[in-house]
Parts: sequence; C-alpha cells; structure tokens
Amino acid sequence: MTLPPKPIIAIDGPAASGKGSLARQLAEQLNFAYMDTGILYRGVGLEVINADLDLNNHDDCIKAAKTLLKNIQSTTLNNPRLRDDDIGQAASIVAAIPEVRDTLNDLQRNFAKNPGESTNGAILDGRDIGTIICPDADLKLFVTAKIEIRAQRRLKDLQSKGITVKYDTVLDNMRTRDSRDAQRKDAPLTRAKDAIIIDNSDLSAEETLEMALKITKERLNL
Ligand code: CDP
Repeated sequence: MTLPPKPIIAIDGPAASGKGSLARQLAEQLNFAYMDTGILYRGVGLEVINADLDLNNHDDCIKAAKTLLKNIQSTTLNNPRLRDDDIGQAASIVAAIPEVRDTLNDLQRNFAKNPGESTNGAILDGRDIGTIICPDADLKLFVTAKIEIRAQRRLKDLQSKGITVKYDTVLDNMRTRDSRDAQRKDAPLTRAKDAIIIDNSDLSAEETLEMALKITKERLNL
C-alpha cells in the first residue's frame, strides 16, 4: 500500500527576516524534517574560498558546488564559519550561477519528498523553495521585514558573536545581497503567487512563530 505524500512547507524570504529560526521552530513543534537550503550555498561559497578558487569565475564556483555535493555526507554544515557575513555575500554570488543551482536542486527536492518515516512532513527555507524547488508545496510562507529592522537584527547577531561592525556597513551589505538575490535571472528571490506573507517588522520571534503555527494548523488541518 502506498502512503499519501507527506506535506511540504516552503518558507522563503530575504536575509535576516527570521525565516530560518521560524522554520526550525515550526519543524520542532510539528515534528517535520527541516532543511536550511541557504547553508548549501554558504557551503559552496566557503569551498570556493578554502580551495583558493575565484568567486568571479563561474567554472570555479560550479566545481566547488560539485565538490560540496560529492562530500555532502561528510561535510559539517554546522561549521559556525558558514554563518559569517562574508560567506553570506559569497553564497549570494555563487547562487546567481544557474549551474550551481542545478547542482543543488535535486538534493533539496529529494529531501522535500523523503523527509523520513518518523516525521510528519518537510520544511525547507530559502529563496526559491515556493517557486522552483517545491512549486506544489502544501503551504508557502514568505517571511519578510523592513530592511532597517533586518539590518538591526543582523547587527545584534554579529555583536553577540563578538564581531565589531557598524550598522551602516551591515545595512549596505544587506542591500547588496537583497538586490543581487532579487535581480538574478535564475530563481530570483520573489514571492510565489500563492505564498502567504508574514511581515514581522513589528513582531517578536515568539509572535511570528505563533502566527505561522496558526496558519499552518489551519491550512494543513493539523
Ligand atoms: O541567513 P540569511 O537569510 O542571511 O541567508 P541564507 O538563507 O543562509 O542564504 C545565503 C545566500 O544563499 C542568499 O543570500 C542567497 O543568495 C542564497 N540562497 C539562494 O539563492 N537560494 C536558496 N534557496 C537559499 C539561499
């Protein structure tokens, strides 16, 4: 007997919108498997840097994506270095290359379709989950906030890691990354037509989670 497919939740949004922690908490509460797809692009960015390859050379970036995919089982994707701001920028450079995206797409789609027997479904967060990776997702959320607020959040985050940086620098970096992500030709950051927008500019993380849980339970009949 074939069981019906498990539900998929797609969460997209710009940098520091809180989509990652929201996705992680939703997954915990609902016992869904969770994939942070941004970490894959960050992994490619870091591989380019560590292997002394050139971020401006497409072939180098594609090579790094293939290396990451080949070694995915043994790669530590919780290396804290992956969260650094320069790696976020590197990620958005490699992520604009269609062949890099193609290299990583199947891994994400397979995860969405096969979240594991003990789970109730899959949650993926990124930039193109609701549009390209899982266009048939059962629920799509687009999580966003005003750029100044997102920059404040990222600043706090960096400061809590002991990194000294000016607010204006964080804001500038975020603008650069947002516009690169939204303007690239392949899989740009954009809201899927059927995604529900959660603007959490004036919401705490707890309020955002509460709102997302309510929407999810209603939409998925959980
Ligand atoms: O955590 P934050 O929102 O700052 O970034 P992230 O989700 O870790 O993503 C880092 C970069 O990877 C983004 O700026 C995008 O350029 C790229 N990315 C992407 O293109 N597609 C995805 N599904 C996820 C991330």
